[in-house]
Amino acid sequence: MAQQNMPGYVTTIERFILERQGLHPEATGDLTTLLYDIALAGKLIQAHTSQAGLTEVIGVTGTTNVHGEAVQKLDLLADQIIINLTDHTGRLAVLGSEESEEIIPIPDKYPTGKYVLLYDPLDGSSNIDHNVSVGTIFAIYRRVSEEGPGTLEDCLQKGRNIVAAGYILFGTSTILVYSDGHGVSSFTLDPQIGEFLLSKSNIRVPDKPKYYSANLGYQRRWSEGVQRYNDWLTSKENDGPNLSLRYTGSLVADFHRNMLSGGIFYYPGEMGHPKKTQGKLRLLYELNPLAFLSEQAGGTASTGRGPILDVQPTELHQRCPVFIGNTRLVKQAVGISPT
Ligand code: AHG
Ligand code: MN
Ligand code: MN
Repeated sequence: MAQQNMPGYVTTIERFILERQGLHPEATGDLTTLLYDIALAGKLIQAHTSQAGLTEVIGVTGTTNVHGEAVQKLDLLADQIIINLTDHTGRLAVLGSEESEEIIPIPDKYPTGKYVLLYDPLDGSSNIDHNVSVGTIFAIYRRVSEEGPGTLEDCLQKGRNIVAAGYILFGTSTILVYSDGHGVSSFTLDPQIGEFLLSKSNIRVPDKPKYYSANLGYQRRWSEGVQRYNDWLTSKENDGPNLSLRYTGSLVADFHRNMLSGGIFYYPGEMGHPKKTQGKLRLLYELNPLAFLSEQAGGTASTGRGPILDVQPTELHQRCPVFIGNTRLVKQAVGISPT
């Protein structure tokens, strides 16, 4: 009997990523352990999000983040959990978080390593008060600076340089989805044993899309090109399947649904909006990791002008228009003036 078919056999995330290390002959084990640190952070964040309705943790802190948005307490807690679990291990040169204005250095008392971690500690956090899914999104790069403390340049790399990326989705179950550049796999947290177990490997975006996801409430501020594209999606000219609309306000949840069932998510620029002329979503913390996963699953991610992964970032908190999902639907959006 094949080992996988034996009663009681499960593939833990630790086993899976250890076995995958063989695909990278140059591997030292640092990336494997870093991914495992992130999985542990996911378990801790999950423990807090699942208690959100029960504790005083729920609600806003009363401060705003660098984007001027209300900061939920859980945002800060999730941010701190990730920093605490990764800053002392000697695996990272520097971190960058949606919740920190500047890069997050490794404290002097700890050694620096060769990787860079960029993340959105809690995506969709305005949904916490309403018990809707939220998630943590992350991307790992190799440092470009030689040694010592990591630099801003280490963080301002094109998404094309991503070594591994993923997200942890806190939904009806907790799922960790990640890719190391050899396909996309998902792991579901088994709450009884407290471990992520392999649930799907080699995830592919289905050829036939089912959903489209966009905040249609903002249509009147979209460019004419985007409005035409939006009309095309549900018109007879689109000769694909009729699409259903799904939009939660948690990018990570909308992306996950569309990757598994087929579809497109878009968040274009908004003309005349002081902060959203380039859309709302952040290139480094949200779009690059999801674009990497989308391409790994056979999908496409575009700014409306070209691949998200080829955008050279110039600022840590840069925003970028996005069309992400089924290749056929995204291609139709390329060249339509997204801002
Ligand atoms: P975050 O909670 O990290 O600030 O991200 C929220 C983002 C994203 O998850 C979601 O798709 C989008 O904001 C929703 O924005 P709108 O409310 O403007 O549709
Ligand atoms: Mn976010
Ligand atoms: Mn966030």
